[in-house]
Amino acid sequence: MTTILLTGVGDLGGWALEFLARTPEVDRIVTVKRSPSSGPSRVSLARLGAIFQGHNKRFEHHTLDLADEDATARFLARVRPDVVLHSATVQSPRRFMNADIDDGLRAEIRAATFSLWLPWHLMPATQLVRATEMAGVQTLIVNAAFPDVVNAAIWARFGHGPIAGAGNVEVSAAAVLGYAMEATGEHADTVDVRLVGSHALMAYGASVVPHHFQLTVRGRDVTSGYDLAAILSSWPEPIVWGRTDCFSLFAASAVKNAVALIGSEPVKTHVSGPLGLPGGYPAKVGGGRIELDLPDGVSPEEAVTTNEAAARFDAIERIEADGAVVYTGEARAAMESIGYRCEAVTFDELPRRCRVLLELYDRLITRN
Ligand SMILES: NC(=O)c1ccc[n+]([C@@H]2O[C@H](COP(=O)([O-])OP(=O)(O)OC[C@H]3O[C@@H](n4cnc5c(N)ncnc54)[C@H](OP(=O)(O)O)[C@@H]3O)[C@@H](O)[C@H]2O)c1
Repeated sequence: MTTILLTGVGDLGGWALEFLARTPEVDRIVTVKRSPSSGPSRVSLARLGAIFQGHNKRFEHHTLDLADEDATARFLARVRPDVVLHSATVQSPRRFMNADIDDGLRAEIRAATFSLWLPWHLMPATQLVRATEMAGVQTLIVNAAFPDVVNAAIWARFGHGPIAGAGNVEVSAAAVLGYAMEATGEHADTVDVRLVGSHALMAYGASVVPHHFQLTVRGRDVTSGYDLAAILSSWPEPIVWGRTDCFSLFAASAVKNAVALIGSEPVKTHVSGPLGLPGGYPAKVGGGRIELDLPDGVSPEEAVTTNEAAARFDAIERIEADGAVVYTGEARAAMESIGYRCEAVTFDELPRRCRVLLELYDRLITRN
């Protein structure tokens, strides 16, 4: 019996729950969230929806706070999930995306980059990894919460952590695959996209963010005929991310990775933060393993160096050996201009940083 544990049943987690409920490879879906509200109802909806499509799965929902690492460890030891799909976060980026603030303030906050809020995504993932360690269970964590940076920091700190992330590079790779299929009339089986790219590539585009790209159609290298920057900025129709409920896309990626990991046949795909590497990579995923599948002529070291350079667009200067995430000077200045001072996000300071950022967020939004 295949068991998937879903941590967080918010927007991304709610979509993941619905997708998992319709995934034949999964027998038992266990969900947890911190507060008692809405979880049981969402699970009942997914359970009923699964029945529409002829599935007969086991569902369980529990109230659990990942901050209680002892309780989480006991829970993991009892549930013994094959995969944990982690989506819990202190505060969703949707709050800022949907906040009713003027363009000037939005630009000021954006200049501090998405990494400003890193502690919110890093803390629950860290608590989960520590609980897994305490429980001594063998499980595969697919982390959806800013995996390009969170996974690398956790692996640096603990020597292990989430095996995969979700979204980000896969969104860019899907755009190229879709465009190439439309342009050539070929099927996905005969088009091979290999993209080393990061969250920053998706956010800031291929004309500025370092990456590696190779495209072959029926085994013929056609990379030079495709303008990656133009494709990523124009195909498909532009998405108004801040005004669209868009997390279904990222949940689909997380579920695909989770299901690929439990399958025996390797799936050719793209994965953010595989095995603690920064950014995202083309890879083969299956049988509990991830193997990089890089563009011809690109070594693993080169791919990592490229993604480290790309991370600077997301404010990350470097990740230290103890997992501390050091911000770039430019990002530090942008953070200071909105009243937040931080040189590096360290694990020991995570609870305090999360609190300070919640206060900062409220101050900024009410200032408007
Ligand atoms: N990788 C990608 O491409 C991508 C794209 C989009 C979003 N994301 C990430 O996905 C994550 C989730 O975003 P979202 O919009 O779904 O957030 P959300 O709607 O706020 O949901 C977060 C969930 O986490 C739960 N949670 C928070 N702290 C917890 C704790 N200590 N213990 C247990 N559960 C806890 C919340 O439960 P309560 O409601 O009970 O507190 C809630 O169910 C974020 O990190 C976001 O950045 C990733």
